[in-house]
Amino acid sequence: MARDLYHRDRIGNRKLKPETLMLGYGYDPQLSEGAVKPPVFLTSTFVFKSAEHGKDFFDYVSGRREPPAGEAAGLVYSRFNHPNAEIVEDRLKVFEEAEAALLFSSGMSAISTTILAYIKPGDVIVHSQPLYGGTETLITRTLTGLSIKAVGFADGVEEASIRAALDEARALGRVSIIMIETPSNPLNTLVDISLVRKLAEELEAAQGHRPIVVCDNTLLGPLFQKPLDHGADVSVYSLTKYVGGHSDLIAGAALGSAAVMKPVRALRSAIGTQLDAFPCWMIARSLETLSLRMTCATRNAKVVADFLKSHPAVAAVDHLSFLPEGSAARRVYDAQCGAPGSTLAFHIRGGEAEAFRVLNALKIIKLAVSLGGTESLVCHPASTTHSGVPKAVRDRIGVTDATIRLSVGIEHPDDLVSDLAQALANI
Ligand SMILES: Cc1ncc(COP(=O)(O)O)c(C=O)c1O
Repeated sequence: MARDLYHRDRIGNRKLKPETLMLGYGYDPQLSEGAVKPPVFLTSTFVFKSAEHGKDFFDYVSGRREPPAGEAAGLVYSRFNHPNAEIVEDRLKVFEEAEAALLFSSGMSAISTTILAYIKPGDVIVHSQPLYGGTETLITRTLTGLSIKAVGFADGVEEASIRAALDEARALGRVSIIMIETPSNPLNTLVDISLVRKLAEELEAAQGHRPIVVCDNTLLGPLFQKPLDHGADVSVYSLTKYVGGHSDLIAGAALGSAAVMKPVRALRSAIGTQLDAFPCWMIARSLETLSLRMTCATRNAKVVADFLKSHPAVAAVDHLSFLPEGSAARRVYDAQCGAPGSTLAFHIRGGEAEAFRVLNALKIIKLAVSLGGTESLVCHPASTTHSGVPKAVRDRIGVTDATIRLSVGIEHPDDLVSDLAQALANI
């Protein structure tokens, strides 16, 4: 398929904004009977025009040969590529100006396929803490069964803390991946992406191999944070969250340079962690309103965070709008984040019993795991999303029995505040 009018991203010299491109970029209506919106291509395989075509396309999708300049790889079989995935991949690339984007069946399959493409038995993964519980479990439990070791660091804005973890890791084996999540789920702690890249380059000089820097950009991206600009090699997403945005699908993505994504694409094709046509179509629809939704939810979250901070039953609120001037975290926020986002944590005075009393009393905000949907969701990380993380680690990093995570949605903020006020009155 020629890259033509439907891959136009500028008028004259002026670059079009992502909000505009989300409505048409990457889709040619003339290939689909003139339909303004892409159909759902419910097909597992694609007819070749000739045997020669089939041979060329197989060479292209398997990476044995590059397609001619300006041409895409051609459609072969839906485990390798299909139109609904290609449209969304092209649109996701726009936000981070990435050369390549890949869709996956979940955030976890994006993360695990990326890691498996770059790791060998005996290697070490260095990672920030906290990580989403599933990622932490994958790295510190599942992968240890494949003789892969892990070393974590809790302070991602102080060079000494990251350096100490890298030194410890080097003594254990070849460090091949630095996996970071910033801001972290659920505490909103930050990792300085450009500092991590600098340390990865230093490690290259020491061990003869530069670890790739993988950044989970689920909480602020792609609107408010662009890790590739700050030195990450791969930006990974749970699209289940803000990008899907309606709590009605599970999907993931990984973005990076064409060279870095090549082995990830090959592994995705080999093990079949791709995303099927219908959820891709839903994500294309979600991308049209991504900017509206994230902007509104972020505005609401600030109202809610201010209310919680002033409430006597709340000991502390972790929201990026509260980072003190002059702090290391604030410096990192100013350098790499565009807005504080709409996922926050607050810590109740008391413990699990008090937290549960608040959760059980909420009337509008729904008690469920996940985040980034149009509706506000609340959960108790220590007993749900982060229950796989050992209690000692949870306590050390600050995910305690009194911690509540709140993903603020697009409801009217006054209603959210009054729901929280009546629930907090139960303590
Ligand atoms: C920050 C983060 N990364 C990754 C994931 C995993 O995504 P998925 O549930 O789409 O596999 C989650 C899920 O909650 C998450 O919050």
